[in-house]
Amino acid sequence: MDCIVIKGGKKLKGNVTVSGSKNASLPIMVATLLADGIHIIKNIPMLRDITTLMKLLDHLGAKIDYVDDMRIKINDINTFEAPYELVRTMRASFLVIGPLVARFGKARVSLPGGCAIGVRPVDIHIKGLEAMGVKVEIDQGYVTAYCDELKGAHISLDMPTVGGTENIMMTACLAKGTTIIENAAREPEIVDLAAALITMGAKISGQGTDTIIIEGVEKLNPLNYTVMPDRIEAGTFMVAAGITGGDIKMKNCPVKFMGAIIDKLRETGLEIEENNGLVHVTCKDTIKKVEITTNPYPGFPTDMQAQIMAMLSIADGTSIMRETIFENRFIHVAELDRLGASIKVEHDTAIISGVKKLTGATVMATDLRASASLILSGLVAEGETTVLRVYHLDRGYDSLEDKLKLLGADIYRTKESII
Ligand code: EPZ
Repeated sequence: MDCIVIKGGKKLKGNVTVSGSKNASLPIMVATLLADGIHIIKNIPMLRDITTLMKLLDHLGAKIDYVDDMRIKINDINTFEAPYELVRTMRASFLVIGPLVARFGKARVSLPGGCAIGVRPVDIHIKGLEAMGVKVEIDQGYVTAYCDELKGAHISLDMPTVGGTENIMMTACLAKGTTIIENAAREPEIVDLAAALITMGAKISGQGTDTIIIEGVEKLNPLNYTVMPDRIEAGTFMVAAGITGGDIKMKNCPVKFMGAIIDKLRETGLEIEENNGLVHVTCKDTIKKVEITTNPYPGFPTDMQAQIMAMLSIADGTSIMRETIFENRFIHVAELDRLGASIKVEHDTAIISGVKKLTGATVMATDLRASASLILSGLVAEGETTVLRVYHLDRGYDSLEDKLKLLGADIYRTKESII
């Protein structure tokens, strides 16, 4: 297995370009199941989650080329089952159930199961599909869904689930009649998915608000769409500049979707300015303590919680971080404490007492954003930090260590066996 070794102490300087959004790319790739033809998607990042979904679409009968842009040819979907071994490695695979039922009237998709950060059920997805007339059975860890006639429905989500909103929105595009989704998630990635569906001929309004209205249509056409930049990768680089006291300029940075992230980072003392398309991030003073509660968009995103915690571990004073989205998203705390951080967890809250310095050690990644948090800590920890199991990182970051190296970090990837 790969690991990443970092020698701390370098201030990051230079320019970096933000890649396409993982969490917009995945549902947009799934949306291609809604129409025959050759779909073209631009700005998809090169990530493990993307290749996992490519494998699943290929398994269903799609033909995929991924050279510069991604070209997905849908004209011979010949299986309607998403197997456990694919779905369990990447839960967004569960998004195929709605489009398969909408197009072909049937689907059998493995329940995704939990992951390190939480149980992550799909009950709200299923309730939405049933409201549109889909018959659902759950047996032996699989969800079997079939539907003779998909009907528009008035659906109120128990909570603003991102994946649930995406699954129901895609399905409703081909339902007979109008679907209203209330208490919908408002994330920018949902707005990007809706924009992609509209290029296919879908009739959607209200995306980005808590009420989305979809007028079902008979048929959709192949999409041709450029995915938005990744706001979480961008936020991760901003933290990298902050934790090292660096000075970086970012291209393709989606600042308009990063309000809560940028506000909090400015509160810690980072200077973040946008001019002529570049976002300039500097940090000259010590990091100041802050209080953060993660919330659905437009609140502070849970996907930035671990990364900013790394920076707060060396802040001046004690910060408070409350995680309200996932019930077990503090696994990185024990690993950060091994680097010398002083963080205590009480239920859904982490109390982060700033320390003067972190000291390098061997630590283990446990989930995607936790791995980023450990790498960020290694950038500032005295001595050498080795992060094991970086396959977690590769799920959601497009060659992060290469981009950090270009900014001056002393970082390299190697095999655990050599360490
Ligand atoms: C998406 O996951 C993102 N993944 C996650 O990013 C992100 O953390 C999450 O939204 C929250 O913003 C992708 O977009 C691929 P949810 P998703 O459904 O859709 C509960 C990353 O690091 N829930 O909004 O799975 C669930 O248990 C990943 O890039 C139900 O109870 O998140 C959780 O507590 C990690 N029933 C909460 O809602 C349901 O049917 C939020 O889940 C669905 C969800």
